[in-house]
Amino acid sequence: MSSIIKLKGKGVTKIIKSKVMLSPLAGVTDKIFRKLVRKWAPDSLLFTEMINATSLKKGYGIQKIDQLGLEHGPIGVQIFDNRPYAVSEAAKLAEDSGAFLIDINMGCPVKKISKKGGGSALIKDRLLAIELVKRVSNAVKVPVTVKTRLGWDNKQENIEEFLLNLQDSGAAMITIHGRTRKEGFSGTADWGMIGRIKELLEIPVIANGDIKNPKDALNCLKKTNADGLMVGRGILGSPWKLGEIDYAIKELIGFKEPNIEEKLLLIIEHLDELIKEKGTHGLLIARKHISWTCKNFPQATKLRNNLVRAIDADEVKQLINKTIETLNTDQKLLI
Ligand SMILES: Cc1cc2nc3c(=O)[nH]c(=O)nc-3n(C[C@H](O)[C@H](O)[C@H](O)COP(=O)(O)O)c2cc1C
Repeated sequence: MSSIIKLKGKGVTKIIKSKVMLSPLAGVTDKIFRKLVRKWAPDSLLFTEMINATSLKKGYGIQKIDQLGLEHGPIGVQIFDNRPYAVSEAAKLAEDSGAFLIDINMGCPVKKISKKGGGSALIKDRLLAIELVKRVSNAVKVPVTVKTRLGWDNKQENIEEFLLNLQDSGAAMITIHGRTRKEGFSGTADWGMIGRIKELLEIPVIANGDIKNPKDALNCLKKTNADGLMVGRGILGSPWKLGEIDYAIKELIGFKEPNIEEKLLLIIEHLDELIKEKGTHGLLIARKHISWTCKNFPQATKLRNNLVRAIDADEVKQLINKTIETLNTDQKLLI
């Protein structure tokens, strides 16, 4: 099975050497988290959090795309907005900063965004969505892609025609979260429907929804025949998961999941980076990652409860180091 995805931009063809990608996740996939994911997934396309076009233009969102070109491996910038001019301008800024591609968010169900016509509202405003893709792909040389859902509120909306129109307008790849906007995160992602869409489109189709581990990934590839997969919630607390899935898809053996001690040390590494970048506010951000990572071993619940109450980074480190000291050799080797 080829592990390569080819994307066409204006006069350029870009190649991704992995079938598994990191979802854009607001509040999670910042450059510090991406750096952790990258350790295990050198070839994968990783996405930024969704970024509002205005915030880039006005400068206050600029730190989210700062020096993307210096990161190792391909980074996609996801933009949300419904104004073709604003998205085109933001896309140019992201391209100048080293974005591998620009993704337009056409799936976000959050009311604050869809009420203003962005995110999933674009599934309803199809002419505007088409105009957006046309204008943005004319504004930049890098590929322009779309991430969307199976529909607004039901599956009879002829989403296939919409996606074919986006393809004809210049979209270089389409990622489909296998749920409608109304479904939110309920039920299970409809991989069957993604498979039917894959048959229709010529551009790469990326399947998304409910892929948490190598087994899900291989099942989803089999069921959809998709060109690639995107992992969202499965990465929370497990930044190695993308690499683990990449290994399975490439049929490589010997992937080494971090053991308990390594996972605890990873929390310290993440925290240190957050504090360096964001000062004491970094601890607040670290707390949610701590609760996602610190699980599935005997002392996890007690440690997690103590860690999220720790008042500063030193206390977090002390608690973790003390726990590592109490792990016996067998536990240290456990994953
Ligand atoms: C915390 C969180 C933040 C998200 N932020 C974004 C986002 O910024 N842009 C986007 O297109 N989707 C976003 N999503 C949706 C995911 O990218 C993905 O489509 C969805 O979670 C389904 O994939 P999964 O089952 O692998 O999680 C977010 C989801 C979660 C849980």
